[in-house]
Amino acid sequence: MTRKPYRDDPDWWKSSAIYQIYPRSFCDSNADGIGDIPGIISKLDYLADLGIGAIWLSPVYTSPMEDNGYDIADYRDIAPEFGTLADMDRLIAAAAQRRIGIVMDLVVNHTSSDHEWFAEARSSRESPKRDYYIWRDPAPDGGPPNTLRSYFGGSAWALDEATGQYYLHLFAPGQPDLNWENPDLRAEIYAMMNWWLDRGIAGFRMDVIDLIGKEPDRQILNNGPRLHDYLKEMHRETLAGRNVLAVGETWEATPEMGVLFSGRSSNELSMVFQFQHVTCFWGEAGKWDPKPFDLVVFKKALNDWQRALASDGWNSLFISNHDLPRAVSRYGDATDHWRESATALATVNHLMRGTPYVYQGEEIGMTNAGFTAIDQYRDVETLNHYEETVAAGGDPKAFLAGAAANGRDNARTPMQWTAAKNAGFTAGVPWIEVNANHATINVEAQIGDEKSVLAHYRTLIALRQSHKVISLGDYIPFLEDDPRLFVFERRLDDTRLVVVCNFSGEPTEFAVPPDLETSGECVVFNHTPRDRVAGTMHLAPWEAFAVLA
Ligand code: GLC
Ligand code: CA
Repeated sequence: MTRKPYRDDPDWWKSSAIYQIYPRSFCDSNADGIGDIPGIISKLDYLADLGIGAIWLSPVYTSPMEDNGYDIADYRDIAPEFGTLADMDRLIAAAAQRRIGIVMDLVVNHTSSDHEWFAEARSSRESPKRDYYIWRDPAPDGGPPNTLRSYFGGSAWALDEATGQYYLHLFAPGQPDLNWENPDLRAEIYAMMNWWLDRGIAGFRMDVIDLIGKEPDRQILNNGPRLHDYLKEMHRETLAGRNVLAVGETWEATPEMGVLFSGRSSNELSMVFQFQHVTCFWGEAGKWDPKPFDLVVFKKALNDWQRALASDGWNSLFISNHDLPRAVSRYGDATDHWRESATALATVNHLMRGTPYVYQGEEIGMTNAGFTAIDQYRDVETLNHYEETVAAGGDPKAFLAGAAANGRDNARTPMQWTAAKNAGFTAGVPWIEVNANHATINVEAQIGDEKSVLAHYRTLIALRQSHKVISLGDYIPFLEDDPRLFVFERRLDDTRLVVVCNFSGEPTEFAVPPDLETSGECVVFNHTPRDRVAGTMHLAPWEAFAVLA
């Protein structure tokens, strides 16, 4: 089979930064309050100027939007609120002119219950498509087949009264799980992927991909026994020979699994999103019960991945996305050291070994939403868990505190383009409230400012493209037990890059380990340029810099 490679350089994504767009909240072109594809096209020059190599586009397919598009009703068409297939083709072409690829979100663990496959599957037990989904008889008492819970609250099984069986939905009832054991279903998915790849896209971000090998009867969800077989088959049938980026979302992956997914001879994925640096701060009750930040724990999670994937496999580097709180609010200090901490976080994230991702608004230091009342939220996960908590007699105030810290809508408030009404996102009424701080935190205010968070991101992204030590060098961590300092070195042949960051709001002394001493060119900094790393250094709060030698 002959497939046209997306680009000649098979490893183009090792020197690129990828920008994630959550279309609903990015830019609204027609004043209906919802971001759309023409809105994205209007911002491509901004993204080209930032220097990114590709856009990961959260889902834009036809969908009833119960989970903002992560519930797909037609994989081969676009939701009318986002535009048309012709708009999508225009976006692919206009991005390509700026050397920006489009990475589509691939949600194939489940569909929407509005998908025609599900309509056929539920029409009768004899339907040829019945087996595209996961059906089980009721338990002897008529209840669900087992105790599996949905990630969005409640049982993971819903009764289809007409046919008298339960179907599995690990997310909302409107998101029935697909049955990957069925070879016809797999073939349909591969055909759909090839249909998109042939339109010239740069790859896929694969939603909760480590769930597709599940065995619900044994309560095995992530990393089921056939997961790697499916991914190898998918690679062979769709990705092989195309030089596209394939990144899997894998909430349960360990560093050892990271190599299995992304190793040189695995023939599965380019890399995975791992979440150990996120979930290490979830408490007993999960995300609604966050633990305080601890730099040693954070570094251990990241350094373990760096070590495990040092000679084979590839890391993705991210500190925020559409499911997580804003990075500067979660890991930095959005109150007293907003600019310094946003730029410090970016410095360490972008200078590790791997492919960095920037979530829309992160590059201007957007912060958490600041919501205090449940009616400000739109997210199905937050709303369902709130109801469940209240129904079980839990404390709504405590839940709201958890949601304010970790709820997904923190990252979904509209992109802050200007200080004007609705942050320049829409001329209508936005589908979710705009953050009040858009008056000070916005693109327009930072665009010409060399010291801005935005300028810092631009510098970091450009450095990766011009210095192989950043894209390809070895990673050597230092001071792993230090509670305030995040320090590492990158090394490629005779080139060294030393990265130093004070992860605290206090001035901090840094006694430079003798084997780290260096002098050279300060290639990025957020406080004062430093060309020597030696002796005892006095670092300002959240000071970060990198020296190239
Ligand atoms: C992934 C997505 C999330 C979505 C879920 C179900 O975790 O990132 O937004 O709700 O999968 O598709
Ligand atoms: Ca719109």
